[in-house]
Amino acid sequence: MQGTPNCPNNITQLLNQLVSQAKKQQDKGRVADYIPALARVENNQVGLALMTNDGQMHSAGDAHTAFSIQSISKVFALVMAMNRMGDPLWQRVHMEPSGQAFNSIVQLEWEKGIPRNPVINAGAIVIADVLVQQYSSSNLAFINFMRQLSQTDAIFVDDAVYRSEKVHGHRNAAMAYLMKDFDNIVSEVPAVLDHYFFQCALAMNCEQLVRSLAFLANKGVDPISGEKVCSRRDAHRVNAILSTSGMYDQSGEFAFTVGLPAKSGVGGGIVAVVPNFGVIAAWSPGLNSFGNSTLGMQMVTRLAEELGLSVY
Ligand code: DON
Repeated sequence: MQGTPNCPNNITQLLNQLVSQAKKQQDKGRVADYIPALARVENNQVGLALMTNDGQMHSAGDAHTAFSIQSISKVFALVMAMNRMGDPLWQRVHMEPSGQAFNSIVQLEWEKGIPRNPVINAGAIVIADVLVQQYSSSNLAFINFMRQLSQTDAIFVDDAVYRSEKVHGHRNAAMAYLMKDFDNIVSEVPAVLDHYFFQCALAMNCEQLVRSLAFLANKGVDPISGEKVCSRRDAHRVNAILSTSGMYDQSGEFAFTVGLPAKSGVGGGIVAVVPNFGVIAAWSPGLNSFGNSTLGMQMVTRLAEELGLSVY
């Protein structure tokens, strides 16, 4: 808690307040329906967790309910790819905000199949290609990495979501084939998409997510186990990408109002890293027009304000 200006004695109480305020909101956003399996999720759920780097876990509401992590998986896949491939990775994917929706295809042709960053869909598909190349079973490697980071085997793939995206993921397939045409996808496209959909379909809860991301709040080293997950330089770089691009076309507003590296997913999860302090995860399935959780945004904004967490 050192270095945090307004740290109240009872963080759990604050989280409970934020969850109960969120539950009273009229506008809960709209559950993603372009992946039909996600459209079935009950919109009234709200979870919030914060783990500090000393291992104290605070949580409230539905923080133990597993949900589809979707694009939050892009953070973990990126770390795996950076660890395996090193700096040549950045010739295949850049590190600029896109200024477009997360699943936009328009820039890809202008920019010759090199995605703007690794946390939009096109960039994550390139990262998936790297993992398919690097591992004999990238799906197994990914879930093992997540189990290691979260320190639990109770992490699973939601098969209904996995199959639903495989059947309906035409836009992702279009981007993958376009990038293949530009020689920026090495493996066969169906294998790459299979990995991408698998990682998106992982189900985790808020507590598991904050535990898994602790290394990003501690310069690449898991603060509890002491294990090095990535280099200090790469932890800084991942946080920089999350600050500029993690909330898609709302990243500027998020930096302005919250001021933390963060990543959202269309399952309604938002994770935010507070360097040298801890990690926040918020979940509520209803989304705003940018694809970010409506209530998740409100809770993370309030929490960052109350605790004075902005890095700026
Ligand atoms: O590929 C997709 O569209 C989804 N599996 C992931 C998108 C996502 O989570 C964007 N997040 N806000």
